Formats: sequence, structure tokens, C-alpha cells
Amino acid sequence: MEKVKTLGEFIVEKQDDFLYSKGELTRLLSDIAIAGKIVHREVNKAGLAGILGETGNKNIQGEQVKKLDIYANEQFIAALSVGGEVCAIASEENEDIITVDNAVSKGAKYVVAMDPLDGSSNIDVNVSVGTIFSIYRRVSLSGPGKLEDFLQAGTEQVAAGYIIYGSSTMMVYTTGKGVNGFTLDPSIGEFCLSHPNMQMAKKGKTYSINEGNYVHFPEGVKKFIKYCQEEDAATNRPYSSRYIGSAVADVHRNLITGGVFLYPTTSASPKGKLRLVYECNPLAFIVEQAGGKATSGTKRIMELKPNALHQRTPLFIGSKDMVEKIEELLAKHSVSTPA
Ligand code: AHG
Ligand code: MN
Ligand code: MN
Repeated sequence: MEKVKTLGEFIVEKQDDFLYSKGELTRLLSDIAIAGKIVHREVNKAGLAGILGETGNKNIQGEQVKKLDIYANEQFIAALSVGGEVCAIASEENEDIITVDNAVSKGAKYVVAMDPLDGSSNIDVNVSVGTIFSIYRRVSLSGPGKLEDFLQAGTEQVAAGYIIYGSSTMMVYTTGKGVNGFTLDPSIGEFCLSHPNMQMAKKGKTYSINEGNYVHFPEGVKKFIKYCQEEDAATNRPYSSRYIGSAVADVHRNLITGGVFLYPTTSASPKGKLRLVYECNPLAFIVEQAGGKATSGTKRIMELKPNALHQRTPLFIGSKDMVEKIEELLAKHSVSTPA
């Protein structure tokens, strides 16, 4: 019988890929995995533990904050702050960056940007949610991390990943050398390698979009939806429509089965809804590493230079051929598309 490989064993084995990182990145990924296990435990008993529902507060972006959002945020901040490898953290739930300046963080080289709980609207209805994270090497020179450390283009990411709390809990991550997925075996409390070297189908058969916003979509996106619904034997159309409403879960499904996820501009979100730094860039890094593509419609997501921590962007991400079809239709039909 083949021995299972744990996430811990796997990341130590890959440590030599990083000549300049003397184990810091390994420890950082392990800290993230531990916080993920703690959040997994709470998500799984959320209905019992009195942590469903809203806190009654809105976050800095005017969205209702759920108790589990706050719980996940606190767990990840705590794990990263005491881990000693990061000099600052940025979170969807905090307007400003959280600087880390304590005895163990001296000389820390990394910063982590995260969406501690993606898909909050699904928490109370037992549908998959997740944590998304992105790791950068600091560009500021010393002391606690600074905003500039987070405003780097996605191409500068050292590692990125997500933990999906679904029918099983999985951690999927990349350090720029392919994508690997680990499923949590709750009986031994370990993430075990279950999806080595994940590859995304070049042509998918699924499109994921909140079609309720149809009337507000750019013309090119409307044309793409119609294209997906047309009958054509050669391209296996019509395609299936699947939308969970947790970007992390929609992208995860498409990563495994092939497909494209779209969150375009709408009238309610004229710049798009998803956040560049801690949602789009990490997902783009993973999808590109698996052979897919991610664009804002006019530019590769990872080449956008963020100018604010919570900046939003339209996002089209997934199987290469499908994303290219969207780019083609947007170019042909849109009067103007935001960068
Ligand atoms: P979050 O829960 O972190 O605020 O993110 C929710 C995001 C994303 O996960 C999802 O794809 C999208 O919002 C769903 O938005 P709609 O409800 O507008 O479809
Ligand atoms: Mn989110
Ligand atoms: Mn969130």
C-alpha cells in the first residue's frame, strides 16, 4: 500500500526549490494550514456553536459581516502574527494593513494578503466557502511591513492558495511550480496529497456567472453567454451553467472539471466586485499554473498594478480557450472596458 504524503512532508520536500528561503516559506505555509484546520473545525460545527448569522456590523466595504468571517479573520491573523515569518497582513475585513512587529517577526521577509472567508453568503446555508491567500516578499526594507508591500503586481507572488471548506476540506496551493491539492483527513488531522500536479482542461464545458445581473453586463459578456447556450456539435455546446456564489468554490470546480468563471462589471459594481489583491491575484496564479488564464477583459490579471488594497476588478478566469473566447467577444462588442 502506498504511504500517504502529508502537506507537511510535501512542503519540506519542496523546500529546496527555494534557494534563498531557509525554511521560512515552509513554516509560513504550515501556519496557514494550521489556521485552516481550526477554521474547518468551526465551519463544520457552525450550526451548533452559535456562530451562524450576522454580527450586525458592516465591513469597510459596506457588506454585512458574518460571525464566521470574523472568526476566520482572527484565526489567520493570530497564526500569522505568532508564526514569525510575516511583517504585515492584509485582509478583506480590515481597512488598513495589520503590521506585525514583535519579538518573533524580526527580519520577517514576507507579507500575506487574504480573504479569510470567501463566499460568506453561503455560510448559513451549508454551501462551500473558503479562505484565499497570497504571499509576497516584502519590498520595503525593514521594520513592520508597509502598504507598498501589498501593492505589487500579481506576477510577484511567491505563493498563493486557498482552503476550501466543502464536502471535504482541501488546501490547494502553488509556489510557481505547478499546483497541488491536499484533502484534510479529519481522522488524523492532516492534509494529505490527493490532487498532485493539477491541470486545467484547455476547453471547458461549464460557465459560471451570476446571470441575474444579465441586463447590466457588457455586450461582449452577453454575447458569450449566448455563445455558451447555442447548439454546436463540434464544440460540444451548449455548455452547462454552474454558479455557487463562492468564487473559491466555483474556481475550484472549474479547475477540476474545466470551465470559466466570470464576474464582469455590473451597474451595482461598475468596477467589478472581486478584489484584485486577495481574491483575483491568488486565484489567477493558481489557474495560470494549472494551464488556464485570468484576465480583466483587457489585461492579464497578474499584470495589473494595484493602487489600493481593496481595489476591485472584473474577472474572467478558467480554461484557456474559454477565456480567449471572452476576450475576443469583449474586444469585438464592448464600447469601453475598464482596465
Ligand atoms: P466575500 O464573501 O468574500 O465577500 O466574497 C463573495 C464574492 C465571491 O466569492 C462570489 O463569487 C461573489 O461574491 C458572489 O457575488 P454575487 O452574490 O453578486 O453573485
Ligand atoms: Mn471573497
Ligand atoms: Mn470574504
